[in-house]
Order: sequence, then structure tokens, then C-alpha cells
Amino acid sequence: MEFPYRLNLEPELTAAAFVDILRRSTLDQRRPVHDLGRIERMLRGAALIATARDSSGLLVGVSRALTDFSYCTYLSDLAVDQQHWRCGIGRRLIEFTHDQAGRQATLILLSAPAAVNYYPHIGLQQHPSCWTLPGARDSDGGQ
Ligand SMILES: CC(C)(COP(=O)(O)OP(=O)(O)OC[C@H]1O[C@@H](n2cnc3c(N)ncnc32)[C@H](O)[C@@H]1OP(=O)(O)O)[C@@H](O)C(=O)NCCC(=O)NCCS
Repeated sequence: MEFPYRLNLEPELTAAAFVDILRRSTLDQRRPVHDLGRIERMLRGAALIATARDSSGLLVGVSRALTDFSYCTYLSDLAVDQQHWRCGIGRRLIEFTHDQAGRQATLILLSAPAAVNYYPHIGLQQHPSCWTLPGARDSDGGQ
């Protein structure tokens, strides 16, 4: 099947562009989009920011990950423009992120409630002993 999107690494992605794609994906409801300083730190502290753009250059998907490029890669944010859902962008962004981080590294993520059936569908394995120590909560900073 044709995949009419370009995948790129975009380490300089701006906070405004990131928030915009979060909003168009609906993930903005679960990320601190009202705190641009925090969003900026999330971007600049990430090891891998991968994007998908359509033929006009419009940003239609993003993956933001932290990795040591060797052992583990935490894919924190995966967001696809709602108008481009189910076109293979999410799956390709995960594969691209895993490739860029090095396939030797295990890719780890926490699912948003709306995506709990998505990850097993595309072949990710559920881990029975994953634990978190939540940070201080604000109203929109959760997974
Ligand atoms: C979840 C999300 C990233 C999926 O991206 P996408 O580009 O639409 O997904 P893909 O096109 O890669 O889908 C691949 C397959 O999964 C299926 N799929 C897509 N979304 C699904 C969902 N929510 N539940 C179950 N299956 C899903 C597709 O139908 C497709 O199936 P097929 O290969 O049998 O045809 C996207 O819906 C999104 O951005 N959602 C809002 C933000 C969010 O929840 N992000 C995850 C945060 S952890």
C-alpha cells in the first residue's frame, strides 16, 4: 500500500508546532499544553523527535522519545492528526523511532486509554510488571 508521507527526525520542532499536532490528534487532553515552558523542556530534553509530514509539508504525526540508543527507548508521546488516522502513520512512526534508537534497545511506552487496543493490534507486547512513580500531578499532565 502506498504511504504518501515523509518521516523525518526534527530535533528543532517548535513548542507551537508540537502543541498544534497534539491538539489535532486529541492527545492535548493528556499533555501539559497550557504550560509552554514545560512543553519546550519536554522537546529539548527528548533524544528523538520524529515527524510525519504530508506532500504539502503539513505536520500530520509526531513521536517524542527518550533513549540511550542501546538498551531502552521510552516513547512518551505518539500523536497523529485525527484526519489522518488509520493511514499507517502511527505504526510507521513507532518503527522509525525504534530504528533510529537502535533495534537493540527495547521500546517502552504507556498507553493512553483510547489506545489500549491499538498497541497489541500492531504487535507490541504487554508487560506484566511495569511500575510507575507518578510525578506531581497537574490537571493535564497525565499519560
Ligand atoms: C493511537 C494513534 C497514534 C494511532 O495512530 P494511527 O496512525 O491512526 O494508527 P495506524 O494507522 O498506524 O493503525 C495501524 C492499525 O491499528 C488500527 N488502529 C488504529 N487506531 C486504533 C485504536 N485506537 N484501537 C485499535 N486499533 C487501532 C488501524 O485500524 C490499523 O489496523 P490494520 O493494520 O489492521 O489496518 C492515533 O489514533 C492517535 O494519535 N490517537 C490520539 C492520541 C493517542 O491516544 N496517542 C497514543 C498515546 S500513548
